[in-house]
Amino acid sequence: MRAVTFAAPWDLRTVSVPDPVVLAPTDVIVRVEAAAICGSDLHVYRGVERGLDAGTVLGHEFTGTVVSAGYAVVRARPGTRVAAPFTVNCGRCWACRRGLTARCVESQVFGWVQQGCGLHGGQAELVRVPHADATLVPIDESIPPELALLAGDVFSTGLHAVEQGGVQPGDAVAILGLGPVGQCAVLAAVAAGARVVYAIDRVAHRLEQAQRHGATPVELEADVLATIRHGTEGRGVDVVIEAVGYPDATQLAWQIVRPGGTISAPGVHNEPAFALTPGQLYDKNLTYRAGRAPARAYLERSLALLNREGWRLEGLFSHHLSLAEAPRGYEIFNERRENCTKVLLRME
Ligand SMILES: NC(=O)c1ccc[n+]([C@@H]2O[C@H](COP(=O)([O-])OP(=O)(O)OC[C@H]3O[C@@H](n4cnc5c(N)ncnc54)[C@H](O)[C@@H]3O)[C@@H](O)[C@H]2O)c1
Ligand SMILES: [Zn+2]
Ligand SMILES: [Zn+2]
Repeated sequence: MRAVTFAAPWDLRTVSVPDPVVLAPTDVIVRVEAAAICGSDLHVYRGVERGLDAGTVLGHEFTGTVVSAGYAVVRARPGTRVAAPFTVNCGRCWACRRGLTARCVESQVFGWVQQGCGLHGGQAELVRVPHADATLVPIDESIPPELALLAGDVFSTGLHAVEQGGVQPGDAVAILGLGPVGQCAVLAAVAAGARVVYAIDRVAHRLEQAQRHGATPVELEADVLATIRHGTEGRGVDVVIEAVGYPDATQLAWQIVRPGGTISAPGVHNEPAFALTPGQLYDKNLTYRAGRAPARAYLERSLALLNREGWRLEGLFSHHLSLAEAPRGYEIFNERRENCTKVLLRME
């Protein structure tokens, strides 16, 4: 099959690799209909997140149809069209039963193979899915692949970030980073009844997009602090959602959150030390919540919400490319060129 593989930072290649096969009775193989590139893939592309084996098939956002299944698979039988969260989960362990599916004892992220262990990804014609019945969600033919892809990661992540932040009706919220995760968080914060949602980034077309979703755009290079102080009686916002993943964003979040407020951080961080000091948290009585979104626990709800409200995200997939064009897709998504907000990879 053809697949997008990691060779080294800044060097991804679409090549032929062996087809995946069912290894365990609960595995299935999915024929991928469409895959997407996530901001998390960029950490690997940039060499900021290290450890991935050369030759790993990338990608954790995909949708498609089951083509073969182990004997223990009951729901995700061949012929079933499915949406997939970006991690695998067993559905039975302590974490799964509490909806913390991203921390399942059997959890693996698609597209992460390190020292020979792990799971290849979905930016490929075929992908192996362990614990298929618990991980995959059967979907109707009428659901566009775009919605299934969003529900599997960035939309569920944005929704989770807002809930993790405890956004209440009437709150002032700031979203740092207006990539796909930030855009979805804007929608979720508006839907949660936020009085004002400041959307902060430096990329003009992303600021405009957030404004269309009901946010107040604030350029990173403008006086963010003054704008937020002005709109919050000098206090700062109730909740900051940090959807960036770099320490300067954590520091800005600290500057703009009110005393007693919450920073909810879906952003994936790779720096060796936390960007804030214990004293900074203490001095503002802050709650800081972070982590991988339990996308599986949100998937059905996200699909239902997207079915109703998904039209608002129309245009988020700014680029539809072939698998062969994926390396260029990474390049333009990373550099935010050609007004790129998200890349969909369709199979030939
Ligand atoms: N927690 C999870 O489960 C989960 C899931 C998906 C993605 N993520 C992470 O969420 C983050 C965002 O993902 P994405 O796909 O939207 O990525 P993206 O790279 O498309 O978006 C990041 C945005 O942040 C902006 N930015 C950079 N520095 C900034 C700063 N200091 N202040 C404000 N904005 C700044 C960039 O201009 C860009 O628009 C990434 O770190 C990604 O790894 C986490
Ligand atoms: Zn992701
Ligand atoms: Zn589990």
